[in-house]
Amino acid sequence: MSDYIAEPFRIKMVEPLRMTTREEREAAIEKANYNMFALPGKDVYIDLLTDSGTNAMSDAQWAGMMIGDESYAGSSSYYKLRDAVQDIFGYRYGQPVHQGRAAEKVLFPCLLKEGQYSVSNTHFDTTRGHVGLCKATPIDLVTKEALDTEKDYPFKGNMDVDKLENFIREKGADNIGVIIMTITNNSAGGQPVSLANMRQVAAVARQYDIVLNIDAARFAENAMFIKQREKDCEDRSIQDITREMFSYADCFTMSGKKDGIVNIGGLIGVKEDEDLFTKVQSMTVPLEGFVTYGGLAGRDLEALSIGLYEALDEDYLEYRLGQIRYLGDILRKGGIPIQYPTGGHAIFVDARKVLPHIPFYEFPGQALVIETYLEGGVRGCDIGSYMLDPDPETGEQPEAEMEFARFCIPRRVYTQAHLDHIARTLIAIKDKADSLKGYRIVWQPKVLRHFTAKLQPLE
Ligand code: F0G
Repeated sequence: MSDYIAEPFRIKMVEPLRMTTREEREAAIEKANYNMFALPGKDVYIDLLTDSGTNAMSDAQWAGMMIGDESYAGSSSYYKLRDAVQDIFGYRYGQPVHQGRAAEKVLFPCLLKEGQYSVSNTHFDTTRGHVGLCKATPIDLVTKEALDTEKDYPFKGNMDVDKLENFIREKGADNIGVIIMTITNNSAGGQPVSLANMRQVAAVARQYDIVLNIDAARFAENAMFIKQREKDCEDRSIQDITREMFSYADCFTMSGKKDGIVNIGGLIGVKEDEDLFTKVQSMTVPLEGFVTYGGLAGRDLEALSIGLYEALDEDYLEYRLGQIRYLGDILRKGGIPIQYPTGGHAIFVDARKVLPHIPFYEFPGQALVIETYLEGGVRGCDIGSYMLDPDPETGEQPEAEMEFARFCIPRRVYTQAHLDHIARTLIAIKDKADSLKGYRIVWQPKVLRHFTAKLQPLE
């Protein structure tokens, strides 16, 4: 039997879900042009599209919403959040923004010049997008272990430090605007980065005098993996590990919608560089709003400052990582290939292995996601070739390194029985995988097509 770590909370408010029949789901997905993002939430039973902003807030956070200070300038909720940033991360400066991509929008133009490179263990899509908007080029150098989904390796989120050094030498340090460590590494499967790896990357960044930024969306889940897996860390607190992790970087961008356990919010942190922070502040005003609210309501600042502390709670983190592991264990026993060991926020099913007869240009990840919806009302998303826009010059479809169907688990939202339903749904699909067909795109926009493209099943 797989272990399920019982919830360290109880439920005091519920949100009813609508149960649907397969016929209803067939009609709904056809109407949505086989695009999961076009599907109305009310037609979904278990929504695993993302863990971003889909979290359940605590009673303390809801209470905080009522006392949020809505002053335009100098809100006490802003000071509370700033103090939390100083306390948790050990950074002098914290700037609220409305979400993670807003942090990128404000910070990256302060770091990146046209023609430069941004080097990362893996850029998340919006991160990649904002690097591109600075007319810079994003380069991903994840450790090779991440590419083998079966390989049992504790830190599949790590940067390949040799490749990093070679890249810097080849291009010249002046041409690298920033190094970004995404913790956990979302695109590699929510996989953690070790302290040892961060230390090595920081040494390289210092040696070549390159700014090191942390994409901190899932910093607490990453710290818990370090506690569970890294040598000499089992007796350290999450706070202590977090402090050390952040001490190696110069700044961070954070979507608060993940480990901030809120529905909206984000942060920029700057360790000590006053000039950089002044630039951040002056960019924030026109792009996001005055510096003491940064595009958020006072109540949102309040909820985020409470959520950041709740995310450090070890009982919560053990349950949280335990949920993903539990689901992953059942799936593996049921013969579903996944990125293993499981990451911190999602199950990444290896769609290439489940549907070997569907070529990348017929989108196996998307085919699997659609069938999961039809089978059990569960919504996930493709992280594979369907997500990659065609080459702007040749129009050719690039092939993704991995074809994943991603099923994210929102924080504190679904129960063990929900996870069992998800597992049953995926295992049932395995038995008829041969009969599944691929998809073709009948309409797409020029960029970020996966959000709005229209698809048709192939005969
Ligand atoms: N960085 C990482 C690692 C992320 O996973 C995300 C969002 C962002 C930055 C951007 O943050 O959404 O608040 O603007 N990830 C979500 C996801 C959308 O589904 O993985 P945001």
